[in-house]
Amino acid sequence: DWSMASFIETTCEHIRDRVGDAHVVAALSGGVDSSVMVVLLHKAIGDKLHPIFVNNGLLRKNEAQEVLSTFEDLGVQLDYVDAADRFLGQLRGVIDPEKKRKIIGQEFIRIFEEESARFPDVKFLAQGTLYPDVIESVSFKGGPSATIKTHHNVGGLPERMNLELIEPLRELFKDEVRSLGAELGIPDSILWRHPFPGPGLAVRILGEITPERVAVLQEADAIAIEEIRKAGLYRNIWQAFVVLLPVRSVGVMGDERTYEHVAALRAVEATDGMTADWYPIPHETLGVISNRIINEVRGINRVVYDISSKPPSTIEWE
Ligand code: XMP
Repeated sequence: DWSMASFIETTCEHIRDRVGDAHVVAALSGGVDSSVMVVLLHKAIGDKLHPIFVNNGLLRKNEAQEVLSTFEDLGVQLDYVDAADRFLGQLRGVIDPEKKRKIIGQEFIRIFEEESARFPDVKFLAQGTLYPDVIESVSFKGGPSATIKTHHNVGGLPERMNLELIEPLRELFKDEVRSLGAELGIPDSILWRHPFPGPGLAVRILGEITPERVAVLQEADAIAIEEIRKAGLYRNIWQAFVVLLPVRSVGVMGDERTYEHVAALRAVEATDGMTADWYPIPHETLGVISNRIINEVRGINRVVYDISSKPPSTIEWE
């Protein structure tokens, strides 16, 4: 694609001019925006970019390994921090959703600052801000809607760390970011991945978060996504995921009575996440997902389907 190729060239030149001999840190989540931003910057300045990838222990099943191997294939060296124990330790006994978000956001900033301090000559922080994010943050400023859920991001970090911001995707929409990513050789598995909240599975485990519950949810969620892909529905859906409820119900398994958790399957259609309709997954697929989760995941003996739209419900349960 000619226009993308020339966008890449111009942007890389611009970044090189601005950065000079300095180094740049970036937070990589493994989502579309931060991945494209990191690969673009790496193309521009190579090893002067330090992409920091923090595993908070609340990612989807195999997600950390997938991100690591994808970036290895792309020839981009990541600064990987496995901080699962730190996050899960901090979250022990915490039930309130906003408290969970706050703890995760603060711990993330702490780790990001610690890691950045390892690299001398860092003068810039790169972020994968898109055009719609720019608009949203301007129109939301001071508005009450901005505080319904405090979205975890690294806002405030640049000032705190005394770094200048680089936002190479600031003028692009999501579809343009995907074409740019394709031009940069980033695989579809990253470019078309469903959005995932910063606090991750913490807001999909209602109530207390334990390592066991994280493992149970990861398994159930992976099954749901696998079946949704097999049915050819993945790209029609904005977000699909499983929520682990702090509710137990009675079941039977062979001759035995079980008393295990209920899981909720959520799938929505949306264009920006501000509003969303529940997605009508065909009954056969629902049946397969439910059977597989109940038979394969110990700790869940009942699956329910969420048929709520936003508003008034939200996409996430917390
Ligand atoms: P809600 O649940 O508010 O979600 O309808 C709208 C979109 O935002 C995502 N979301 C978050 N993203 N940090 C994030 O980075 C958060 O704390 C957070 N909470 C919700 C959600 O997954 C959906 O795409």
